Amino acid sequence: MHIGILTGGGDCPGLNAVIRAVTLALTSEPGTRVTGIRRGFLGLLTREVLPLERETVAGILAEGGTILGTHNCCDPFHYFAAAGADVSGLAMAYVAELGLDAMVAIGGDGTMAIAHRFAGLGLPVVGVPKTIDNDLPLTDRTFGFDSAVAVVCEALDRLGTTARSHSRVMIAETMGRYAGWIALEGGMAGGADVILVPELPFSVEAVAAHCRQREQRGLATLIAIAEGAHAQGGAVTLQATLADRPDPLLLGGVGHWLQQQLQPLLASEVRTTLLGHVQRGGSPTAYDRVLATRFGWHAAQLLRAGQTGRMVALQGDVCTSVPLSEVAGRNRTVPVEHVLLHAARGIGVSLGRASASSAASSAPARNR
Ligand code: F6P
Repeated sequence: MHIGILTGGGDCPGLNAVIRAVTLALTSEPGTRVTGIRRGFLGLLTREVLPLERETVAGILAEGGTILGTHNCCDPFHYFAAAGADVSGLAMAYVAELGLDAMVAIGGDGTMAIAHRFAGLGLPVVGVPKTIDNDLPLTDRTFGFDSAVAVVCEALDRLGTTARSHSRVMIAETMGRYAGWIALEGGMAGGADVILVPELPFSVEAVAAHCRQREQRGLATLIAIAEGAHAQGGAVTLQATLADRPDPLLLGGVGHWLQQQLQPLLASEVRTTLLGHVQRGGSPTAYDRVLATRFGWHAAQLLRAGQTGRMVALQGDVCTSVPLSEVAGRNRTVPVEHVLLHAARGIGVSLGRASASSAASSAPARNR
């Protein structure tokens, strides 16, 4: 058996742990070879590969990023997004030339959608769900999320000392595009007083009222806001529009926007920190190393069993798999009745809504 493996989309802590696990699990059987494709799907067009042996993956478990490199603009079915040409035939020709029997595609929603299309061309593919955003459907966790949450937690701990010393309102803007998982879990872990997620458009006045109440009690305020959060009736805040991207919207800046709105309404000074790619960099947490290793091993098991066209998933404590067709083109946002939103409100965290109008205040709690 000859297996190809690639990492697509943004980098993420734990990618190397998956590459290592897949390589170790597959090469433990005589006659199985593993070849890394460099720079995501682009490597199938530029013909860049890295043979993976047990020695190649030694020592990479704790390394952030990906030894294969990645790319978040290359979709061979629309190469590049702006030009829109379908060059998937060239990629398939290279797959045949390499003699690959199957492919492991590690990535987020975009990578899973492309992997599904390659499966449709007859390439046996197994997907492995990666993203710090934790927004892939049918899996409770993607690896990388725990590491990002740990960064947000530490950032809030550090911002909290300045907030309390200077009686300030400190805003931390997290990643998370259209899903608020990082802001929600990171905010809860870091003791945020206000958590703003894309799923619950916020009222600036409600946030200001919460900060004022805290000011009156001599308390500083920590706000965790997801980059995709937006005011009621407003739109997401864009840094740029990048035409060559499958998703051309580069989000970012809503924290600074909120600072400008809040400052005239408050006595305290308001400051903002955009956490950005710091959340995606560095070594994976112990949890993510274990999850990524389980995912990689499970992907190898699926390949051995000939169960392809599937994405590895974590459901409860069980590592399982789901059809790529049920994942492609979908993502998983925070349900407005999620138990963590209830818990947040229950301990007095503001979700940026007047309490009576909050969807999270009345609906039954849901865990996933
Ligand atoms: O999808 C993961 C993610 O980290 C998003 O939360 C964020 O909007 C995006 O990647 C940023 O990607 P880039 O590296 O292209 O700026």
